[in-house]
Amino acid sequence: MSVAGGVPVGSRIAPGRVRIFDTTLRDGEQAPGAGLTAAEKLEVARALARLNVDVIEAGFPASSPGDFEAVNRIAKETKGVAIAALARCRDGDPQRAVEAIRVAERPHLHVFIATSDIHLKHKLRMTREEALAAAVQWVRYGRQALGRDAEVEFSAEDASRTDPEFLLRVYEAVVDAGATTVNIPDTVGYAIPAEFGALVGRVVERVGSGAVVSVHCHNDLGLATANTLAAVQAGARQVEVTINGLGERAGNASLEEVVMALRTRPTQFAGLASRVQTEQIMNASRLVSYLTGFVVQPNKAIVGANAFAHESGIHQDGVIKNPLTYEIMTPQSVGLAGSTLSIGKLSGRRGLQSKLRELGFELEGEALDAVYRQAIALADAKKEVTDADLLAIVGQRATEVIDGIALEGWSVTSSHGGRSTGGVTLRVGEERRQAEASGNGPVDALYRAVDEALEPIVGWRLVLDEYEIRAVTAGEDAQGNTLVRCHRSTDEARPPLVVTGHGLSTNIIEASLEAYVTAANKVRAALAAGGPEGTDAARAAAGRLP
Ligand code: KIV
Ligand code: ZN
Repeated sequence: MSVAGGVPVGSRIAPGRVRIFDTTLRDGEQAPGAGLTAAEKLEVARALARLNVDVIEAGFPASSPGDFEAVNRIAKETKGVAIAALARCRDGDPQRAVEAIRVAERPHLHVFIATSDIHLKHKLRMTREEALAAAVQWVRYGRQALGRDAEVEFSAEDASRTDPEFLLRVYEAVVDAGATTVNIPDTVGYAIPAEFGALVGRVVERVGSGAVVSVHCHNDLGLATANTLAAVQAGARQVEVTINGLGERAGNASLEEVVMALRTRPTQFAGLASRVQTEQIMNASRLVSYLTGFVVQPNKAIVGANAFAHESGIHQDGVIKNPLTYEIMTPQSVGLAGSTLSIGKLSGRRGLQSKLRELGFELEGEALDAVYRQAIALADAKKEVTDADLLAIVGQRATEVIDGIALEGWSVTSSHGGRSTGGVTLRVGEERRQAEASGNGPVDALYRAVDEALEPIVGWRLVLDEYEIRAVTAGEDAQGNTLVRCHRSTDEARPPLVVTGHGLSTNIIEASLEAYVTAANKVRAALAAGGPEGTDAARAAAGRLP
């Protein structure tokens, strides 16, 4: 019988299944500027659990106290899914990861070390034998620390550029030491599908009866999804993916593309299927895009705004006669049912609750009340409150910092050709702060006023790197969703602590101010979580790995 870590491989993955290992919160979050707070990470973890992924890689606990806390909270609070934590094969990392995920229903330790000569020589300055020994040591540690039923995964970083004979030797050794999954990362997106499939086939042949074979593909050549699917055809049974293909550099294989390819073309994959609730894909995609500030390109497969739009007359005519003419999957299958909620001043909480449930959010008590109040206020300001409006409201709530800096009031004057002058009133804990400033436009003036008000107490100002405003829905009464990306003025000498902030309002000045105040709150929270100013921990607490 084939055995992984003492437990039959077959009992770790049901026959006919491909295990979906989502790394949006770890590799995805490593995308520069995609940093999330612990509360935002928890919201994404909930969306991933609703999506029914098999494993959520929640973070890299040894990278910072902030990341440890986020992984630990997700491990405590997310049920019905395995929670993975990443660790380097070096003293301290795996222990921290185990500590963070031990409380999970199904802990999944993920240890890695690079195996390619280029990484060994220039990055790790280790020999092949030293790397192999470290891999075995930390896999064995994980097995002992977490027990027989837990998952211990080993990744050979830069596997696709590693000498295949050495790679196979490493995988054999870690499986002997108790690894239940061996992962083959195409770390720099170098592989080509046929070549990668052949490599995966060799690994499956050598260790596939003793461990689950997994792949982790990056998109540097735009081949991450193609390589992942070639790997499944060659025998891989776990795929590491991210929502919207978020990730380092050009990103990772995208969950929605891989899952929908399996669903749409089952005969190409011997009938293998994931257990993902594909109808939740759009909700998860919108939430991740909203919280990270990474806009999905309109022509992105599956989740792009144009993915199901038919422009030409010939196509429209065909789709009206029979959608199968130009649609290989239905919009409903990825959660694009697109109904509009008619919520007005007289609408009830219960109706809102069931609409939110349909959108994948289980809200009750104070959280439901707060969304309800906001939705009713919005119904006052605009004709109809749509799904997109509600998703934006729920997403915005995840970015709120309790007891942080709050915007209490503002005013601005602005005229053609002249400078603008604005004033803000902020509350910072018990203290009320007011300031005025002028700028080359109303938003500029108000942002300067926020800096004036805050600098004396926080010791820094925000530097605006990006500003974007988009309408949440069509119509002239639409809410404006403002996104800012900022860093601190005191970060000049080092990689800056980059944060994003969102603001949502039918008044675009208000939305712009809210976004800036949210960004200031995130910097403040990051510094509080990470200790002294400018440490790696502080940066990572704001969502960036060192
Ligand atoms: O790309 C990579 O090699 C990784 C590993 C840590 C799995 O992210
Ligand atoms: Zn990666």
